[in-house]
Amino acid sequence: MKSNKYFVIDFDSTFTKVEAFDVLADVSLSGHPEKDSIKKKIVEITNQGMDGTLSLRESIQKRIELLAPEKKHIRSLVTHLKGLVSESFKRNKDFFTSHADNIYIISNGFKEFIEPVVTEFGVKEENILANEFVTDGNGKIIGADTNNPLSANNGKVETLKQLNLPGDVYVIGDGYTDYEIKHAGLANKFYAFTENVERASVLIKADHVAPSLDEFLYLNKLNTAISYPKNRINVLLLENVHPIAVELMKAEGFNVETYPAGLDESELCEKIKNVSVLGIRSKTQVTAKVLEQASRLMSIGTFCIGTNQIDLKAATKKGVAVFNAPFSNTRSVVEMAIAEMIMLIRGFYDKSNKMHQGQWDKSAKGSFEVRGKKLGIIGYGNIGTQLSVLAENLGMKVLFFDKEEKLAMGNATKCKSLKELLGEADVVSLHVDGRESNTHIIGKAEFAQMKKGVIFLNLSRGHVVDVKALRENILNGKVAGCAVDVFPYEPISNEEEFVSDLRGLPNTILTPHIGGSTLEAQENIGQFVPGKLMDYINNGSTSNSVNFPNLTLPTLENAHRLIHVHHNVPGILARINQILADHGINIVGQYLKTNELIGYVITDINKEYNKEVIKQLRAIEHTIKFRILY
Ligand code: NAI
Repeated sequence: MKSNKYFVIDFDSTFTKVEAFDVLADVSLSGHPEKDSIKKKIVEITNQGMDGTLSLRESIQKRIELLAPEKKHIRSLVTHLKGLVSESFKRNKDFFTSHADNIYIISNGFKEFIEPVVTEFGVKEENILANEFVTDGNGKIIGADTNNPLSANNGKVETLKQLNLPGDVYVIGDGYTDYEIKHAGLANKFYAFTENVERASVLIKADHVAPSLDEFLYLNKLNTAISYPKNRINVLLLENVHPIAVELMKAEGFNVETYPAGLDESELCEKIKNVSVLGIRSKTQVTAKVLEQASRLMSIGTFCIGTNQIDLKAATKKGVAVFNAPFSNTRSVVEMAIAEMIMLIRGFYDKSNKMHQGQWDKSAKGSFEVRGKKLGIIGYGNIGTQLSVLAENLGMKVLFFDKEEKLAMGNATKCKSLKELLGEADVVSLHVDGRESNTHIIGKAEFAQMKKGVIFLNLSRGHVVDVKALRENILNGKVAGCAVDVFPYEPISNEEEFVSDLRGLPNTILTPHIGGSTLEAQENIGQFVPGKLMDYINNGSTSNSVNFPNLTLPTLENAHRLIHVHHNVPGILARINQILADHGINIVGQYLKTNELIGYVITDINKEYNKEVIKQLRAIEHTIKFRILY
C-alpha cells in the first residue's frame, strides 16, 4: 500500500530486544580467555561514543578490532537476533507486510546482520539504511565502509536528508540519534520506544512514549494485532503484593502502579476511576461504593485465599471478575499440620517448655509414633487431600469425611458420617471451609464422640470449633494434644493482645494464623493471581473466578472474540446471534455460562465485521460489559 506516511524504525533495542554488538561479542569471543575484559572495554567504548568523547567512526572501528568478527560469527549472530525480535514487533508482522513500501529501517549497525532479520518481516532490501562491513578477503571483518554516512556522527540525519521522503515521517527508536532526525526537521514525530530500554535523555525529547509498537499503531489508527495496547490498561497493585506479581504484570506490558499499603474507601473511590485491574490482599475493602466509581474496572485479584473483603455481589453486578489464589499455600498448611501432629503425639512442645524452665523430664510415657495411627481428616478439599497423601507417606492410616462426594486419594478410607470418623481417629484434623453453617461443627457432643487421648488440630477457620468445649476437653484429658492456628476473633494487628480461653493449656500449640504464611506460598500467590488476571484480560477465561461463571476457553486464533457480560435474563444469546446473522457473520465458536446474577457469553467470529455490528451488540438490553479481543 503506497501512502504518504513513512515509518523510520531503529534496529538495535527497537526492532530487536538487544544491541547486536553485545550479542556479537558473545559469539565471536566465545571461549576467548579475556572475554570479560574485552566486553568491558566494548561497553566503555560504546559509552564514549555516546557521550561524544569518541567519534562514532572511531567507536565502530575500535569495537570491530576488539571483536575480530568473521563471517561465520555473523551467521550465528543472525540466528540469535531472529529469536530476539521485540515481542510487539513479532505480533504486528501484518503492519510490516501491509506498509512495506513505506517502512525504512535505519541503523548505525550493519546490513549484513540486519537484512536477514528484517526482510523476514517483509521489509524491502532497498529500505534498509545501515552500514556495511569491509573484509580482508579471507572472511575476516576489518572495518566499516567509511563512504556510508551512517558510519559517522549525525549519520541518520544525513541519510534521511539524502532520502528526501515525500510525505509525513514518523520515527520510532530508543536512542538519541533517532530523536536527532526529528530535531533536524526531517520527521513529523519522534516516538521513544521503551519496550526494551528506557533512556531519560530520549524520553524528554519524545513527542510520545511508545512502550510497545501496539501503542504507536493505536495512536496512528493503524491496524494492530491486539485490540487495545496493554500499556493503556492501568493496573493498581496495593498492599505490597509480591514483587514477582509486579514483574509479571509489567512484563505483559500493562501500566502498573504499586502502593505499599492499603487504601481506605474514599481514597480508593478516587483512585479506582482509571483502574482496569486491581490487585489487593486482605486489608483493602472493595465496597459497593468503591465499585460504583469503578467504571473501567474489569477484574480484581486478591493475593490471598479469602475474598470477603470484596462485595462480591456488587462486583458481579458490575461485571467485574474476581480471582483469588485458592491453593497457592495449600502445601504450607499441610506441612504445618504434619509437623504439629508429630510434635503433639510425642509431647515435644511441653517437654521443650520444661527444658527452658530447667526441668529434665526424660521419659517415653505418652509418646507415640504417628506411623500406624489413624488420621481423621474433616473436609477433604485442597488441603485435606494433600494432607491425606503426605500422611500416608508417613505410614498413617487416613480416614476422611466430607459433605460432598470426594475421590479418596491413595488408600484413604471415606467415612459415612462425622461420628464414624471421630470414633476411630487418633488424630483429628479440621480442613473444612469457613461457611457460616460450619459454626461449631466441633462442639461438646463431637468431643464426646472422640477417642480418649486424641490429638486435635484446627488450621481451618476459628468459628468452626466451640473453643470452650475444646478447653474443657483439654483440661479433662480427653484431648491429649492440640494445635490451633485460627480463632473466632483474631487480633487486627501485631500490637493487639491475643485473648483466648486456650492460653496456658498443656500440650497446646497456638499460632497466629500462619498456616499458609511461608515465602514459598507468597511467591506462588504472586505468580498464580497475575496468571488468572492475564488469562481473563487476554483471553476471556474465567476458570477459578470466585464470582463469574467459570469458562476455560481455547486460545484465540484467527478470529475475533466478543465478550459479553449481561444480567441473567432470558433471550440474550438469541439476540446476539440474531445480530450476527443479520450481518452475515460466521460464528466459529460460542460458549455460554450463567450464575444466578449474570450470564457470560463468548462468541468467536471470523475476522470480518463492521463497526455497526459492534454498536448493536453493545446496545443489547441488559448488557453489563462488552469487549472485543483479537
Ligand atoms: P476447600 O474448599 O478446597 O475444601 C474444603 C472442603 O471442606 C470441601 O471439600 C467441602 O466440601 C468440605 N466441607 C465443608 N463443610 C464441611 C462439613 N461441615 N463437613 C465436612 N466437609 C465439609 O478448602 P481448602 O483450600 O482445603 O481450605 C480448607 C480450610 O483451610 C479453609 O477453611 C481455609 O480457609 C483454611 N485455610 C487456612 C490457612 C491458614 O493459614 N491456617 C491457609 C489456607 C486455608
